[in-house]
Amino acid sequence: MVQDGVPALPGGRVLLVIGGGIAAYKCLELIRRLKERGIQVRCVLTEAAREFVTPLSVAALSVEKVYGDLFSLTDEAEMGHIRLSREADLVVVAPATANLLAKMAHGLADDLASTVLLATDKPVLVAPAMNQMMWGHPATQRNLALLQADGVATVGPNAGDMACGETGSGRMAEPAEILAAILARLGRPGGAPAGGLAGLRALVTSGPTREAIDPVRFIMNHSSGKQGHAIAGELARLGAEVTLVSGPVTLPDPPGVAVVRVETAREMLAACQAALPVDVAVCAAAVADWRPEEAPTQKIKKEAGAPPPSIRLVENPDILRTLAADGPQRPRLVVGFAAETEQVVAHAAAKLRRKNCDWILANDVAPGSGTFGGDRNAVTLLRRDAEPQSWPAGSKVEVARRLVGLIAAEFGRG
Ligand code: CTP
Repeated sequence: MVQDGVPALPGGRVLLVIGGGIAAYKCLELIRRLKERGIQVRCVLTEAAREFVTPLSVAALSVEKVYGDLFSLTDEAEMGHIRLSREADLVVVAPATANLLAKMAHGLADDLASTVLLATDKPVLVAPAMNQMMWGHPATQRNLALLQADGVATVGPNAGDMACGETGSGRMAEPAEILAAILARLGRPGGAPAGGLAGLRALVTSGPTREAIDPVRFIMNHSSGKQGHAIAGELARLGAEVTLVSGPVTLPDPPGVAVVRVETAREMLAACQAALPVDVAVCAAAVADWRPEEAPTQKIKKEAGAPPPSIRLVENPDILRTLAADGPQRPRLVVGFAAETEQVVAHAAAKLRRKNCDWILANDVAPGSGTFGGDRNAVTLLRRDAEPQSWPAGSKVEVARRLVGLIAAEFGRG
């Protein structure tokens, strides 16, 4: 098969961007292991990387020309930076230094490595490596969140002793771990299960709830369940063990998901509690806030001349709030949605705090937004202690992929 003008090797093609950190030496081992598996490895070294490993050793191990200079006439003549960035199945950045991550997050392109990363249309995997203070710095964490929202996957870093003599989180993942992450992304045996969410237990609520007025009438809303079902399906696709608690919807069950069908908010809460413990809970259901205080077992009849009956409502349990309350059963990550028609981010931020959840996806459900029942969603992600992140409008499946990508990263499976 020929892709982008270059014959694809049976093992796949990796473009390895080597950043300037002491962990760069581990890349030599990584290249060797990739080559053993028949994977083509082309390397780009930043200027700083050349202080840690020599282009000669990288060329000898990869059996490929090594690239490094954006303005090299020979490099550009042989292989423009655009082609270099496209002629791979996967782009890997290792070590991904704080500086490289910052450049990537902000779209800077001032050398070959950063230009290639901006020009690529291929999936990108980064293996961060830096001093633990640099890793923990809010700026680095902000940049990482931006990159994850862009769909960049991470492997590591690990905690332990560091070359600088300090101990903490920031050590680059071992070559074997990076290799496994690469193989998984190339769809090769020996990699982690697709997406690597195997063993993760997830609970998702979806759809509306239906609250009876009498045996034939009810209160419900327009929720279709498409977003919640897409999230459950995506979690399962990546190997998680998923329980989907769904109100009445007309959607098919997502493959590989255990579906519990409920009608009312109280049934939904009971089903969720029965599914605990889980690692992550995503509450995407549009739960009815109120239910009729009484639901007679017989149909309410019209009586000639009598005024219309009034329905007294009582509050339903808040499922998200109950799941997110501190306690031994609290999932490590609780994600809610916030359906708002005005002041979307401000109301969602208040909801995040009020309901004690970790993340909230705010969506505009104002009339005309097309969110309720539609196939598309425009959301803003709010997390504690992080700037809100507006995602470009996309299909509900795209929103699900992005969210599940972030969940995977949160559990170190990205
Ligand atoms: N939610 C829930 N149980 C409820 C109400 C809401 O689990 N009884 C969850 C929803 O699944 C969603 C989040 O709480 O993840 C926010 O739902 P939303 O309808 O936006 O907020 P409400 O709490 O109903 O607040 P309000 O209607 O005042 O905006």
